Formats: sequence, C-alpha cells, structure tokens
Amino acid sequence: MGIGYDAAMPETVPSELRAVGDLYSTPGMEWAVRGLGPHFHPGSEDATVALAERAVHYGLEPNSRILEVASALGAPARYLARRFVSTVICVDMDRQMHAAAGAANSAEGLSRRCLRVLARTERLPLRDNAVDAAWSQDALIHMDKDVVLHELARVVRPAGLIAFTDWIARPGFTPEDAASLAKHMASPSLFTIPRYVAALEGEGLEVLLAEDRTRALRVAALPAADQEEFERAFAGKWGEDELARQQAMSTAWRSIVSGGRGGYALFIARVPV
Ligand SMILES: C[S@@+](CC[C@H](N)C(=O)[O-])C[C@H]1O[C@@H](n2cnc3c(N)ncnc32)[C@H](O)[C@@H]1O
Repeated sequence: MGIGYDAAMPETVPSELRAVGDLYSTPGMEWAVRGLGPHFHPGSEDATVALAERAVHYGLEPNSRILEVASALGAPARYLARRFVSTVICVDMDRQMHAAAGAANSAEGLSRRCLRVLARTERLPLRDNAVDAAWSQDALIHMDKDVVLHELARVVRPAGLIAFTDWIARPGFTPEDAASLAKHMASPSLFTIPRYVAALEGEGLEVLLAEDRTRALRVAALPAADQEEFERAFAGKWGEDELARQQAMSTAWRSIVSGGRGGYALFIARVPV
C-alpha cells in the first residue's frame, strides 16, 4: 500500500450502531456504487468541484500535500491530484476500498500521486504539520467528529486549510432520526452547523466558511426506471435480507432529508499561523 503503513485500528462499535465495515461490505459497496457512482457522496464530481472552488478562493494552492479523509474509491483524490498537481494522502480504514481505488489510480496513471494509507482517521499515522491541507466529503457522518477534527488540526501545517462537506442535522431533527441513522448508516452523531463551527473553533481554527448546501442535494423523487430489475438481481446475488437492509438504509436517509430535518453543509477552516 502507498506509504507502507498497514495498521488500521479494529472497529469497535456499540450494539445500537451499524458498523462502518458492515455498511461498506461487498454488497454495501455494490448498492452504493449503483446509487452514487465512484464518488461516494451526493452530487458526484460537481460537489467535489464546488468544494475545490471555495478552497481555491481561500488559498488552496497547486503542488500541495493534501490529506483525503476517508478516501473510499478515490474519485475525489484523483480529481485533487489532477487539478492541483498535488500529492494526495488517501486515508481509509477499508482494504476493499483501497484495492478498488488502487486499480483506478493505476488505470488513470495517478498511483504515485494518490498514496493509500490504511488507518482510522481518529488516529492518523502522520506527524504534526505533515500536510498543507485536509479534505473530506461526506464521511465524517461515520466518525467521532471531535476526535477527527482534533487530528486534522494537528496534522495540517500553520496557515493550511481544512475543507470538507458533511451531513448535518437541521431544525426538527429528532432523537428517533439520530437512532435511525445509527442503526442504518453507521452514524454515531450528526452535528448542526453551529455545533460544527464550535468544534472547529474549539480546535483554535479560523472558520472561513460554513455553508448550508442542502438545496444542492438532489434526492431523486422517483426510483430509476430499472430499479426493480436491479433489486431483483441484487436479492438473487446477496439474499432478501441483504436487500432489506440496504433498502432500510436508503429509506431512513431519504425520509430525514426529504423532511428537511437533515441536510448537507460545506466548511472551510484555516489553521492559525
Ligand atoms: C461515504 S464514504 C466516503 C466518500 C468519499 N469521501 C468520497 O467522496 O468518495 C465513507 C468511507 O469512509 C470510510 N470510513 C468511515 N469511517 C472511517 C474511519 N473512522 N476511519 C477511516 N475511514 C473511515 C469508509 O471505509 C468508507 O470508505
């Protein structure tokens, strides 16, 4: 693997929480790729471009070392490597994700600029001030956000940027919603925008942008025309129980977003000099 680090911490989760490794099991990945494509976040590459535009505005420069937090299949990392002619350190705890990302990186000639690191983001195997910027798209939903933000503030150099998007709680978000996301989406918590701002400022970071982007989310009102056919084939391959688990996950999230109680936000913060 990329820079030779292979010591992911074991995933221990409370019983009411679905494990991340279970959410992104082989069938889970198949379900996610069907819904999202190789960018494992809503909005595909457009969302990556939107975050990059804002990061450039606030000073992200070419030839940087960028940490990609929970890189999954690596589509945002490859975009960053190309657009910023940069080295991207791709941290993810999932071997299967890294294997798939590795194949795509080589196919696109980017293996030497997208370095894969198997680790948990709560304990980054990087020294202090190791990178010029940190980047993440829609993955902090699965993590202990306070711990991860502390790690990011540690590894990004002074004056470096932390740019990320994540799912957020909005007015009306209920304890039942939180329990449903824990059960179906491996989410220990969802922050509101003010809670995120407080967490960033608590790490001594300067918050440059905190933008509710919920309106940019496109939750399809109707299933794709061939959804039924896809689900029949999925159940044939993985079983009815697995299909029901994936459907429950999609339904849980859809109902929170379409009710306006959950959404999506973009943040840019700077490490003080
Ligand atoms: C929603 S995907 C990330 C999407 C990716 N950033 C993208 O935009 O394509 C979630 C990823 O987070 C990883 N992940 C979740 N919790 C993690 C943790 N604590 N440490 C490292 N990786 C984690 C999972 O293995 C999975 O690959």
